[in-house]
Amino acid sequence: MGNNLVQKTILYHEETKHSPSRYAKSSGFMDWENQPEPFRLFEGCPALGFPLSKKDSDAAYTCLYERGQNHTQEITFNNIGAFIELSMGISAWKSFQGSSWALRMNPSSGNLHPTELYLILPPMPEMGDKGGVFHYNPYFHALFARAGFDAPFWDSVRSHFNLDGFFVGLSSIFWRESWKYGERAFRYCNHDVGHAMACLSFSANLLGWRVTYLNTLSSEDIETMLGFSKTKWVEFEREHPDLLLFVCKNTDMDIPRSMDNESLLQFRSLPFVGKPNPLSGDHVDWNIIDQAALWTEKPRTDEMIYRYNSYPFLDGKCVDKKAAKIIRQRRSGQTYDGETSITREEFLSIMDRTMPRDKSAPFDLELGEVSVHMVIFVHRVTDMDSGLYFLVRNEDHFEDIKSGTDPGLLWEKPDFIPDTLPLYILKRCDCKAEAQMVSCDQDIAGDSAFSVGMIAKFRENIEKSPYLYRHLFWETGMVGQVLYLEAEVYSVRGTGIGCFYDDLVHQLLGFRDNSYQSLYHFTVGGSVEDERLTTLSPYHHLEKNGK
Ligand SMILES: Cc1cc2nc3c(=O)[nH]c(=O)nc-3n(C[C@H](O)[C@H](O)[C@H](O)COP(=O)(O)O)c2cc1C
Repeated sequence: MGNNLVQKTILYHEETKHSPSRYAKSSGFMDWENQPEPFRLFEGCPALGFPLSKKDSDAAYTCLYERGQNHTQEITFNNIGAFIELSMGISAWKSFQGSSWALRMNPSSGNLHPTELYLILPPMPEMGDKGGVFHYNPYFHALFARAGFDAPFWDSVRSHFNLDGFFVGLSSIFWRESWKYGERAFRYCNHDVGHAMACLSFSANLLGWRVTYLNTLSSEDIETMLGFSKTKWVEFEREHPDLLLFVCKNTDMDIPRSMDNESLLQFRSLPFVGKPNPLSGDHVDWNIIDQAALWTEKPRTDEMIYRYNSYPFLDGKCVDKKAAKIIRQRRSGQTYDGETSITREEFLSIMDRTMPRDKSAPFDLELGEVSVHMVIFVHRVTDMDSGLYFLVRNEDHFEDIKSGTDPGLLWEKPDFIPDTLPLYILKRCDCKAEAQMVSCDQDIAGDSAFSVGMIAKFRENIEKSPYLYRHLFWETGMVGQVLYLEAEVYSVRGTGIGCFYDDLVHQLLGFRDNSYQSLYHFTVGGSVEDERLTTLSPYHHLEKNGK
């Protein structure tokens, strides 16, 4: 059975590879009539609006990462609102020729936003001294109460953690993404979860809070806690449970990564209310996605604690930038100018920020063992040779990767690369055309300062347990979010790239089997803004209604 699931998971991955002669299956056209509604609304649930932040913290951008630099705020209803606003709220509206669409703090493939957010909160005065399970709706910046509980219910949950805090749950609506991308959409949904995790960790850090991934819970446990099995879903629009995070004030204490059985039983007996709004009139059944979700379901697992390194960050010389401003201004570059360079110091600092560290957001939410590396196509970095580079994010994999790749690659570490950064040059060359070609011929991968292929330790992880398939994509999303914010810090822009020719990337490096697979691409450079679009403020629609 176990082996069977491994094979099936690998089958999904193979089936959804793109190549120049065969793209993963999708409709091949945009069925605008049935474009899924981007905002989930549970009808029949009491609503509770968060206030909008009047003023963001003026913490420096380095405060995004380092714990201890941020003043710890109380866990109040309003502060939870600020936490969510700066991680999963709306960042702006764009409009063009009569149509308008919202952008969010968290990016999403095709701006389709399959990721939904839930909060499980302790009793608070704003909620009539009741606790509950809430769905977050970013359009209204409001919570919709799906279930309520009283203080004794929460006391039992709290006693397991022995800390004040609350839970964040994430789920995915695959249809939102498969509507456009067909069978490959399961991958994109999981990238988006990773981006959201990093957004949440950064935003919490600015409040002096810490986010921890609860790694023992099964998909079924999460489904129970979020009430999904008691919800009447529209066919094809069911939400799939991804994960649960615990949020508390900064502490060096080891936080439990589990829920006790008694609390889980309490959640099981909670009544849930609310009817999910239909998102589309008609659907296409991309059955392999539901299958892939089933094959990669997480079982309950033993509690794990992960430790990373604690090297100080390289000094990027950009301390005057403000963290919240960087988060709010983040956008995906649509076109790159083919000219703008970044400096070597900036490049090294960006690479360094993607390295997981203890006591540093976002990777100290402890997703698991570090499995994602980066091949970097360096095009325009001053004082650095153009060419192919490799960042080994987990040095335990170094020999394995080196021996699995083309023996002609250099694996040299030039003198200017600090000892703490496992960055190697593989080949000096002009690789703009290659970078562009492997990223589905998208110009953005060659017209930038550098682009990236995220290379994950693949087969061994899937053989360990197929649910790790999803974790690998989450990890790439987290790395992607760091790259997005770092790009903004250095006055350039980033773009996630989900469309790439999988096996051409592997051939480029000389991988002969699926020990390592490229799972996500990314590009960073000088972007050209589309002047035709009008930008509106994120919550103008609520202000108009007198909120
Ligand atoms: C997982 C993922 C994959 C993406 N893939 C592509 C891509 O292949 N090509 C592209 O031009 N943009 C891509 N994007 C950028 C999205 O289209 C962009 O995030 C979305 O339109 C929202 O805009 P924003 O990032 O400015 O908020 C991707 C983004 C994500 C998160």
